[in-house]
Amino acid sequence: MGQGTVGMEIVRQMQGPLHAIFVPVGGGGLIAGIAAYVKRVSPEVKVIGVEPSDANAMALSLHHGERVMLDKVGGFADGVAVKEVGEETFCLCRELVDGVVLVSRDAICASIKDMFEEKRSILEPAGALALAGAEAYCKYYGLKGKNIVAITSGANMNFDKLRVVTELANVGRKQEAVLATILAEKPGSFKQFCELVGPMNITEFKYRCSSDKAAVVLYRSRASGKKQVCMSYMEFDLIFDPVEEIVVEIMG
Ligand SMILES: Cc1ncc(COP(=O)(O)O)c(C=O)c1O
Repeated sequence: MGQGTVGMEIVRQMQGPLHAIFVPVGGGGLIAGIAAYVKRVSPEVKVIGVEPSDANAMALSLHHGERVMLDKVGGFADGVAVKEVGEETFCLCRELVDGVVLVSRDAICASIKDMFEEKRSILEPAGALALAGAEAYCKYYGLKGKNIVAITSGANMNFDKLRVVTELANVGRKQEAVLATILAEKPGSFKQFCELVGPMNITEFKYRCSSDKAAVVLYRSRASGKKQVCMSYMEFDLIFDPVEEIVVEIMG
């Protein structure tokens, strides 16, 4: 009931035609409530769910036409980390929801940073989810000049999580890349590594001794372009943790 009134507030406050409402999805209660109201009074408005790509129970369930239970679920956006969506909410979503957008953890972090920089508000990951989804959707469809709403639903943040967000936000904006290289634990290999990555603009560096034979070097590079990072990867045989693309999956 309360979830439906979110939809009512949006419709009442609309100033001009609304293209879409983006809603974070956990068990599906919020989006089902909003969709139930909005589709009744303004069926032309799209209601689009947003899930983390590693907590995509609703997208999978809609795709398969039945509720799917995830084996494991990513806990970064803990407000929406569910293994299975609700029975009733699934039925409503199947009928009423226009699509689901999946976004990466890095994209969520970038949206938290954007919100802070523009409004000085701190969102929790689940709260920034819809913002990241709206951005991915607009980019994917090349939408400009449309009215859209993203539900920024929560602010359950703590300093530990904020530290992770700070670290990943630039990766989400493709301004930084996170890389790892396995180095042989033998004289000269670190020197060789330095010579190989010499041209890269390294912003953080960690050396982790993992065994007598090898060590893992984790480092960040300010990306002047993805090309530079990928080239380094091929030339130097680095293990590249790809700067994840925002994944967009729109259901039928
Ligand atoms: C921050 C936040 N956003 C959104 C939701 C919506 O989740 P659901 O789809 O389960 O209604 C929740 C649920 O607890 C939440 O904590």
